[in-house]
Amino acid sequence: MEMARRKPLVVVTRKLPDVVETRMRELFDAELNVDDVPMDQAALVEAVKRADVLVPTLTDRIDTAVLSQAGENLRLIASFSNGVDHIDVATALARGITVTNTPGVLTEDTADFTMALILALPRRVTEGAQVLTGDQDDWAGWSPTWMLGRRIWGKRLGIIGMGRIGQAVARRAKAFGLQIHYHNRRRLPGAIEDALEATYWDSLDQMLARMDIVSVNCPHTPATFHLLSARRLKLLKREAYVVNTARGEIIDENALARMLEADELGGAGLDVFEQEPAVNPKLVRLARQGKVVLMPHMGSATLEGRIDMGEKVIVNIRTFMDGHRPPDRVLPSML
Ligand code: DGY
Repeated sequence: MEMARRKPLVVVTRKLPDVVETRMRELFDAELNVDDVPMDQAALVEAVKRADVLVPTLTDRIDTAVLSQAGENLRLIASFSNGVDHIDVATALARGITVTNTPGVLTEDTADFTMALILALPRRVTEGAQVLTGDQDDWAGWSPTWMLGRRIWGKRLGIIGMGRIGQAVARRAKAFGLQIHYHNRRRLPGAIEDALEATYWDSLDQMLARMDIVSVNCPHTPATFHLLSARRLKLLKREAYVVNTARGEIIDENALARMLEADELGGAGLDVFEQEPAVNPKLVRLARQGKVVLMPHMGSATLEGRIDMGEKVIVNIRTFMDGHRPPDRVLPSML
């Protein structure tokens, strides 16, 4: 008689959309976090000791200390995230643990949100919205010189990181009349450059000095930590805007805040922060003055996107458990 196969113990660290959790319950011995209380490091250690599969997300730090406690059964970390900078992937791989992520399904949502920040800054969208909802009644009606922003059409947008999300931003930005420039580890094929009418800059420094708006769309890796360093930020035009929907660590946030305070930059639209969820108080002050638009890491926050991410996690787990290579395996060459 054939023995029934034990369902894998899948520990999920945060609340996921109901439809994803229901499917996980059907397929796996799923340990869910229905209260959505973030797990501390001790709880993560307990999880990796007993799980066959861990499903963390970007709010969990899966570092060497956690991984060194992993039980023998842990063979897969199927992250519910596109970015994997919260996981020590090298250590996981060295311990024979496969890591997967959820690329592709966040692209369009994140590009939409990037575009929202690109528009919000020069056109003063959040500032304007606050005029009618703030405490003071300070709208005396339309006036030719009141609340003037800056035109978007015809300006130069420099995209740092021209992967899926960078290209999706470029497609939208082109429709808004922005001129597309980009810096990337590798130059794009000519056909894509032609379709986007995009200009490639091998030198990030040279690109930065010429842009009106800069959008950060690359992953956070050791090579991109503080890519926009104090030195590089100083290369930007005094009236330039910086938008970041990727990861806070890519910009030296203190240097950025100092420059904004000193009026050495036009403004910044930030969806991600260096010490997330803490936000630099200087940035909050600048936001109150209308120099900065701050968003609480909402770039990919759509119900459809989260369900698609859950589906990817499930496919990765199922494929792996069936003895095949999961579609979204994270390889060292990606880091
Ligand atoms: C991710 O999954 O890495 C995104 O940052 C979520 O918004």
